[in-house]
Amino acid sequence: MRSLLTRSLLVLLCLLLPSCAFAATLTADADVTTVEMSDTLYGLFFEDINYGADGGLYAELLQNRSFEYEDILNPRAIDHYNGWGFNLTFGAKGKATVMTEDPLNINNPTYMRVTCEKGDYRFANLGYQATTLAGGVPVEVGKNYRCFVYLRNAGDFSGTVEVALTKRTGKAIAQAQTLTLTDAWQKYEMTFTAASTEDAVLSFILHGTGSVDVDMASLMPADAFGADWPGGGLRSDLVQALMDLNPSFLRFPGGCIVEGSYYQSNFYDWKDTVGPVETRKENFNTWGYMQSYGLGYFEYFCLAEALGAEPLPVVHSGVLCQAREKKEGDLTLKEVREYAQDILDLIEFANGDVTSTWGALRAEMGHPEPFNLKYLGIGNENWDSVYWTRFDILYNCVKEAHPEINIVSSAGPVAEGALPSSAWATIRARYPDTIVDEHYYMSGEWFLRNTSRYDRYPRTTKVFLGEFAAHEPVQYNGRRPNSLYSALCEAAYMTGLERNSDVVVMASYAPLMAREGMQQWTPDMIWYNSREVMLTPNYYVQQMFARTVGDQVVASSCESTNQLLYHVVTRTADKLYVKLVNVSDSEEDMTLSLTNVPDGTAVYTRLSGERDAINSFTTKDRVAPVSGECTIAAGMADLLLPAYSVTILTFDLQ
Ligand code: AHR
Repeated sequence: MRSLLTRSLLVLLCLLLPSCAFAATLTADADVTTVEMSDTLYGLFFEDINYGADGGLYAELLQNRSFEYEDILNPRAIDHYNGWGFNLTFGAKGKATVMTEDPLNINNPTYMRVTCEKGDYRFANLGYQATTLAGGVPVEVGKNYRCFVYLRNAGDFSGTVEVALTKRTGKAIAQAQTLTLTDAWQKYEMTFTAASTEDAVLSFILHGTGSVDVDMASLMPADAFGADWPGGGLRSDLVQALMDLNPSFLRFPGGCIVEGSYYQSNFYDWKDTVGPVETRKENFNTWGYMQSYGLGYFEYFCLAEALGAEPLPVVHSGVLCQAREKKEGDLTLKEVREYAQDILDLIEFANGDVTSTWGALRAEMGHPEPFNLKYLGIGNENWDSVYWTRFDILYNCVKEAHPEINIVSSAGPVAEGALPSSAWATIRARYPDTIVDEHYYMSGEWFLRNTSRYDRYPRTTKVFLGEFAAHEPVQYNGRRPNSLYSALCEAAYMTGLERNSDVVVMASYAPLMAREGMQQWTPDMIWYNSREVMLTPNYYVQQMFARTVGDQVVASSCESTNQLLYHVVTRTADKLYVKLVNVSDSEEDMTLSLTNVPDGTAVYTRLSGERDAINSFTTKDRVAPVSGECTIAAGMADLLLPAYSVTILTFDLQ
């Protein structure tokens, strides 16, 4: 009687106290497998959103380096003077005028004419976020910075131009360069060694009177990743963060920026992004700022190669962004037929022989070997007949010329309802050999409820979950948080992706990057300011999963009263991976019963913490993976799963 009472009390306590443990048994036989897994399951989707390229991954430290900044949709927000400061010397007199006559080249039509009337007139590029603590042109003591600029004497200038890395006050922090100009545009190159660590500026001081023309100034760390690529290099710390994700593909360059907003001239044209960097034709992007295209198609291909990832470019389909109101029309079908050649040219640029027109350009840019392009997305988030009529032309044109290319089609921007159903009906009927790009940003609860989504998909046509993230309600500063909870909901969902990896062949979290304080979209996987990188719980989940991809799914079952426990078991020839996600607020006493797994020690990686925990620039490691070990003997292993945790165990099979 007494023990019955005690047990009832315990049950009651378990119901009342959130920390009470569940008990579970997971059973699997390593030799009983279900489906083959995709070897391109986890990858990256990179878009220049949130200053992801310019002001982010691209190592250029100057903003608006060629005075092209102009947002025709939002002319008050950014203009040709953006990022620059003029008339910075006390007592000097002069002016800066935006010019277009006789420019550097037709793709770079705007430049600045700076006139000094009196004194030593100084103007400077202030970098990104010059007015904030984490902004300006970040330089580090002892490091070298490569600089170039195009200058011209406008005709009446008598004197010299000093180019200097300085403090905001104008005090030099590196040996300055003094230049004498000619009457023609000339490129001046120099290297600065920073004498101190500063949020600096790149200053130009006119010693003399008259006017000089300036365009295309650049300043980059000499040790940037890919510093010798034609467009310039990438931020090493951010490239490292990408490498640490073990990506198997790189989808680029968007996203909405591919479709362009409102105007045909805003379509992303890959040809604008290749060749010498000063001849690339800048364009404003959907997210309200300019794309320098210094990180262009050649550099994207090089990045994919460096990451060991399959390149997956997405080209527009001739349809402007359907999620936005249009002011001009989409391409006509006749125009689409002509535009198809641009796509064939892209394939030639990537894979063509060096004797071909575009293969020759690739070789000239420094990469004679082909990039081995295998995938191509046509359209980003498109749907309806306006898309399919254009897609059909482009699809047939590519298929005919390059049957070896896997084409990615679009199922639109939402997870459920008539729109994706109709897209899928069209695809199954007419383009079943395409890989279908699904995008959805849903609540954490939605992801938990839908972990079996792909269990029901027919196994023939393959899915690319090109954009997904768990969105929690907006919390602070208008942001949706990158909380542990959101990351766990994604992890739970990804157990379903793995279980169905015969159908879901690719998946990528979105968006990938955000510059703190300059973001247009939250949540994002990797955050940074001018000097530091901050990784989120969502990043760690992607990393943990991508580092433990099996070749085959192992049949498994799990008994527990915990409704918020998710699992998947996979294997390679010599490893068994057990992924366990506990999204509940209670710990779980877990017993693993594994057949055909030798005795020994398994290692595990775990992410856990408080439900709503987030990382920040001041508490970067609040949620970070830890590792541990657990023993397995006679097929049995025990471990305790903390509340709000994801644990990935690796067992040796040999
Ligand atoms: O990832 C952010 C945006 O979300 C992408 O540009 C677009 O494809 C989607 O709507």
